[in-house]
Amino acid sequence: MKNWYKDWFSSEEYFNVYNHRDLNEAHLFCNLILRETQPKKDALILDAACGFGRHALFFASKGYNVIGFDLSKLFLNKARNEAAKSSLDIKLICADIRNVCFKTRFDLILNLFTSFGYFESDEENFSFIQRSYNFLNNDGWFVFDYLNKTYLEKNLKTETIRKINGLVITEKRSFRDNRVIKKIEIKEGNNFKTFYESVKLYSSNTLIKKFEQFGYKLVNLYGDYSGSSYSDNSPRLIMFFKK
Ligand SMILES: C[S@@+](CC[C@H](N)C(=O)[O-])C[C@H]1O[C@@H](n2cnc3c(N)ncnc32)[C@H](O)[C@@H]1O
Repeated sequence: MKNWYKDWFSSEEYFNVYNHRDLNEAHLFCNLILRETQPKKDALILDAACGFGRHALFFASKGYNVIGFDLSKLFLNKARNEAAKSSLDIKLICADIRNVCFKTRFDLILNLFTSFGYFESDEENFSFIQRSYNFLNNDGWFVFDYLNKTYLEKNLKTETIRKINGLVITEKRSFRDNRVIKKIEIKEGNNFKTFYESVKLYSSNTLIKKFEQFGYKLVNLYGDYSGSSYSDNSPRLIMFFKK
């Protein structure tokens, strides 16, 4: 289960399990990001762990200069195909968040939809946040969208079963060693596949302290993609930091 993220994010099954994490949700969130950060027309945006590009492509469609990177070649190829279909100019790079570096300076860095906490050590988990401070312009923004630990601890659904596109998807969730673990079992006819997710749990206070330690200043907090205020009952922890 150590490198669970390599298997899971290079599987086509991801798109069935997370079919609700779609463009509508991404566009709602991108509009919140635009309202909050008010980027200039020629702003340069970095989507760190951009996946199949649902946010990055939206910003490119609005005319911003966008670079996205991700470890998954499958997801990057999906993003490239979408960009080609819509004639969007976007740079998509295969890179590991633990060591990626840029000479360019960005106006806005995004790390969205719990693309954080995958590794064992805090050093690895926080290394990008620390490093990215150096490739952000003065006055630049870092938008961080992660799970709400308090909400999750109160509301964990230990098992859910869904039927999607002929697949039976069983998701079993538990807490272990300060992580939330999800076992995803997918049954298609007589075929079974199993995937895992394992995300380290950090409280909002710990995260804010860490960001501040690296130089970031917290500007605003939201609890969902439509911009509701953050509380212990919010499904998400969305933080807007400035350099
Ligand atoms: C939950 S998905 C979110 C993707 C995208 N931000 C979105 O909202 O659709 C997490 C992403 O992190 C990427 N990822 C996992 N480990 C990574 C690593 N070591 N370096 C770069 N990206 C990684 C995965 O490939 C996946 O695309």
